[in-house]
Amino acid sequence: MNKSKNILLIITGGIAAYKSLDLIRRLKEQDYNINCILTESGKNFVTPLSIESLSGNKVYSELFNLTDEKEMGHIQLSRISDLILVAPATANIMSKMAYGICDDLASTVLMATNKPVMLAPSMNVRMWINKSTQRNINTLKTDGIKFIGPENGEMACGEYGEGRLSDVSEIINHVKDFFENLHFKPLKDFTALVTSGPTREYIDPVRYISNESSGKQGIAIANRLQNLGAKTTLITGPTNQDDAQVSKIYKVTSAHEMFNACKEMLPVDIAICAAAVADYSVKNQSLDKIKKTSFEKDLKLSENPDILKFISQKRNTRPRLVVGFAAETNDLEKNALKKLSEKGCDWILANDIGKDNIIGGDQNRIRFISQNENEQWPMTSKDQVANILSSKIINYFTN
Ligand code: CTP
Repeated sequence: MNKSKNILLIITGGIAAYKSLDLIRRLKEQDYNINCILTESGKNFVTPLSIESLSGNKVYSELFNLTDEKEMGHIQLSRISDLILVAPATANIMSKMAYGICDDLASTVLMATNKPVMLAPSMNVRMWINKSTQRNINTLKTDGIKFIGPENGEMACGEYGEGRLSDVSEIINHVKDFFENLHFKPLKDFTALVTSGPTREYIDPVRYISNESSGKQGIAIANRLQNLGAKTTLITGPTNQDDAQVSKIYKVTSAHEMFNACKEMLPVDIAICAAAVADYSVKNQSLDKIKKTSFEKDLKLSENPDILKFISQKRNTRPRLVVGFAAETNDLEKNALKKLSEKGCDWILANDIGKDNIIGGDQNRIRFISQNENEQWPMTSKDQVANILSSKIINYFTN
């Protein structure tokens, strides 16, 4: 079925390039046709012979190669491709793409193409968080380039942090999703609202009450709903994540601001409350920094509005589907069921936040609970959780 799908895989020069061999093998197993460009620096990590043997196609490297240009020039390589995948993508190729530099075959094809491009970056954590890399990422995202990862983890250089190439199976999932979703827009007539991230409740100008929510799960869900055609609004508390690619984003700070933004966006068809909303705000927030001598006796809290409950119990304009989360450290099912009935939402995605670095991490383990369903989803990436949830949403509306 995929025989007609051509992927141009660009392999650039990082240690993770060795994983591209497995990637080629497994994409071939899925019946994609793979053409490869191997950059000069990529040749330090994998050989053209290995790539040719696995892909079954000639590998291209040079921009000014008369034989190659005659057989398949840089324009032709782009023209025959349905998708261009750069894996691993180094900081160098990303900066060339951001600035429109084309000084070798890989960067020239990327400049000359009008096809969708996906990048799976891989680099040392310091290079990833470097300001110029972060600027380039923003530019590329604005240009419509899709990113797969990178992940947090141990690196070949011995450091630990963000910058590790996503798992080969994760890259393949993204490729498969891309082709499946190209024309699959089952939610195109729907509007969706997703809350995400933490909220901050300021005590004084420099101190606040908050939590460790990263916003990753909410962003993954919002992106997925938008991809499936839903006109999606993301209302997010402060995070250091890249912006979601959705119709509208509201950046808020406090629970009250999140609540007001939600009210403004209603009515919607689907509401997903993934935010870790602070339960209390500070009644007597001080405009001046509170001195430590008066701190304890000064702090008075008032309960924040429960956004999920408000949306779930809205009378005339209740969304057709309301989904909440339950972050628990104990009695997961019991507490989740209690939240389901007390708040009045349709589904609860419960997660045990006491384990597995779920808060802030890249993975999540969900127990899905509704009035008549109770199922355990496997520990998987937050993107994959968004996929599973979206499939359930599509089923809910179509069956
Ligand atoms: N929620 C909300 N507004 C609040 C508090 C929570 O919309 N003020 C939503 C969250 O987005 C989540 C669900 O309610 O979808 C459950 O949040 P959680 O923090 O697990 O529970 P709480 O309702 O805050 O209760 P508790 O802290 O006692 O577990």
